[in-house]
Amino acid sequence: MPTAMPRPMVAGNWKMNTTPAEAVQLAAAVRDGADGLAGVDIVLCPPYISLQGVADAVKGSAVKVGAQNMHFETSGAFTGEVSPTMLQGVCGYVILGHSERRQLFGETDDLVNRKVKAALEHGIKPILCVGETLEQRESGRALDIVAQQVRAGLAGVDDITGLVVAYEPVWAIGTGQAATPEVAAEIMGGALGDTLSSLFGPAAAEVPLLYGGSVNPGNVESYAAQDSIHGSLVGGASLQAEPFLEIARLTAQAKSGS
Ligand code: PGA
Repeated sequence: MPTAMPRPMVAGNWKMNTTPAEAVQLAAAVRDGADGLAGVDIVLCPPYISLQGVADAVKGSAVKVGAQNMHFETSGAFTGEVSPTMLQGVCGYVILGHSERRQLFGETDDLVNRKVKAALEHGIKPILCVGETLEQRESGRALDIVAQQVRAGLAGVDDITGLVVAYEPVWAIGTGQAATPEVAAEIMGGALGDTLSSLFGPAAAEVPLLYGGSVNPGNVESYAAQDSIHGSLVGGASLQAEPFLEIARLTAQAKSGS
């Protein structure tokens, strides 16, 4: 049994918020506040237009940058899209399969799978998002749905080096209705951890598993206290430096066992 735990991670998903100037300001505030904060990886995921500015703002610090989406082709006639080769060198992570992409922009498991493969092939770490809807939970299918999303998202993948998986129950995103730590841990140990282990063996133990959905400084410790939860993907509470940094601090503290 490997006892090593993935390095804790807190990722901020800014969604379609912040102008380029605001993004740089927010990134600089996070960079300054994160100075000396060890034991947790901090990733900022601004809108595309601010990726370069945020990357420049955090350059030389431990803060990392991610995109919120990506096309799977490297170039071509795909108006409005951004490719893996364009992201290479600008950011090290990319959020893929977020429920808003799935629900509002029609992304399917197959499309998400192509994007995950493209990201891994280009050395960009995918933060693969999975999660059930309220209707799926109420009909008792949450575990199956999430396990299926993990399998489909990773179909044909052999090497999961760099992979991050985020469990974000759709009913908990932006609603203030966070999943209880026990509910999250049940899914993350089972549908995420067990599925990844059965697919990838010991390599699965290296994959950081993030909880997402109404995480804030007041509830983050209860998630970080769970063995199967290694960090969080934060939306609303990542739009201001102080609460986001507090989430990172509390995560590092809980995961170091102090
Ligand atoms: P929230 O969003 O923290 O605002 O609920 C989380 C997410 O969608 O990543």
